[in-house]
Formats: sequence, structure tokens, C-alpha cells
Amino acid sequence: VAPDPATSDARLNAAVEAVRKKVDIEPEIALILGSGLGDLADAAEGSVNVEAVDIPGYPTSTVEGHHGRLVFGQLEGTPVVFVQGRVHAYEGYNMRRLAFPVRLVHALGANKLLVTNSAGGIHRDFSPGTLMFITDHINFAFASPLVGSCHAPRQAVPGERSDRHLPFYDKEWTKRAKSVARDMGIATREGTYIWVQGPTYETKAEIRAFEKLGADAVGMSTVPEVIQAQHLGMSVLGVSTITNPAAGMGAESLDHEEVLEVGRQVREDLTNLVRGIVREA
Ligand code: 6GU
Repeated sequence: VAPDPATSDARLNAAVEAVRKKVDIEPEIALILGSGLGDLADAAEGSVNVEAVDIPGYPTSTVEGHHGRLVFGQLEGTPVVFVQGRVHAYEGYNMRRLAFPVRLVHALGANKLLVTNSAGGIHRDFSPGTLMFITDHINFAFASPLVGSCHAPRQAVPGERSDRHLPFYDKEWTKRAKSVARDMGIATREGTYIWVQGPTYETKAEIRAFEKLGADAVGMSTVPEVIQAQHLGMSVLGVSTITNPAAGMGAESLDHEEVLEVGRQVREDLTNLVRGIVREA
């Protein structure tokens, strides 16, 4: 695979410089939040926005009105950066470009990544509104943002640690986050997230197969960012919101009002939970 000049280290350095010209906050935690949690970035104090179009190499969404941006600020007394306007594989981005924001926030100082998404429930106990800490994933899109950046599987080279056995999801951080949730009276579960490319939803047969593979939730995001973050040695915490049963796993048509109410309730819980996690990180 030929290296993509749009995602070269030189381009990354140029992006870092462009951001540094506009903001001097060094973020500890980067947050990539799924739909419905955008308000949380508005809650950041002393925030400075940097628009994607002003960052060389940054993927800008093709959908009008949804171009990305980075929002730097303080949340719960911690310097953070929100990655807004996440892009997906199904929009046609190559994986290197999709993970560029993660390389950027890491280069800007973030060593932790908190990522949330919405997902379809496969585990039979996961009703809409369930919050699931991602403890592992299955890469069912068979794609990686590291393709083109390495010449061989990541082995130990002298002076460098092999990442073969580094965890993708930080066990200690997940444990702390679970206890934060418990203290707040917010019920959470744990499970395995299976990443599919989309944009079509799955067939019932696919979901039956995914259940046999050990997946608890299915979605179209998160894994490329997590693979990049793990490669960079970042600590990752992932939370899925189960918004609906995956194909064939539940009532085919939930009452629309019920779905909206589930959405409102869980959004409030998740917003509080994310704040609590950042406070205790
Ligand atoms: Cl059922 N499938 C996928 N791939 N993503 C989802 C979903 C289902 N529900 C929410 N996001």
C-alpha cells in the first residue's frame, strides 16, 4: 500500500502547528462522543474551537453542516479536547485519514481517549438504553488505520515495546469508570463490540452469526480510532449506548415515543457519567 501523503508525518506536524497557533491548552483527555452528546462540548469552560477546514490533513465531512472541529477546554477541571463531527468508514474515507484526528490529539498531548457510540444490542439482556463498557472488540470490517504505516506486524524491535499484547481497552480505567457509575446510581454492563463497515444495517442471519462469535453490540464506528490510539500507547475507555435491538433480536418496532424517551433518559445518564469519569480519570 502506498503511503497516503495526506496523512504523512509531515502533514501531522503541520496540523499540530496550525492548532498550536490557535490554542495553548494541552489536553489530557480526548473525547470522541457519539450522536446526542454534543451538548457536553458546549459545557467545556474557556473553550477554543479549531475548525477541521483550518487543519491540514484533517478529514472534513462531505455532509454539509457537519464539518468537524476540535473543541479545547476544561471539563470538571481537566483540560480536554472534544473531537466533533466524527467521520465513518461508510462515508468512504480511507482508514489512515479516519484515524488522523486521533494521531493529532495524541501529538497535542492527550494520552487518554474516551470514546462513546450508539450500537445495536445483540446480547439478549441488553434492552434499549443499556450502557455498555466496551471490554473488547471484533474487527469485522477487516480494515485498519495502521495499514500503510508499518512494514510488518508490530513486533518488538530493540528499544521499543511490542504492542502485541497491550490491551485495547484500559482495564483499570474501565474499573474506575464502573465504580463512578455505581456511585451515581447508573446501571452499566460490559461487552464486546463488533465493528462493521456499514452503511447498511445487518441481516438477521448476520446478527445470529455475530452472537455466536461472541459479540454483544454492533456498530459502525470506534474501532478504527481505538486501533490507532492503542498503537500510540493511549489509554482507551469505550462506552456504547444500546439504542435498539439488532436485527431479529427484539421487537421489530418499538413505539417511537418510547425510543425517544429512552434516548433522553440515557443521554442524561451518559452525560453525567462522562463528567464523572473525567473528574476521576
Ligand atoms: Cl442494529 N447496527 C449497526 N451496525 N449499527 C447500529 C445499530 C445496528 N444500531 C445502532 N447502531
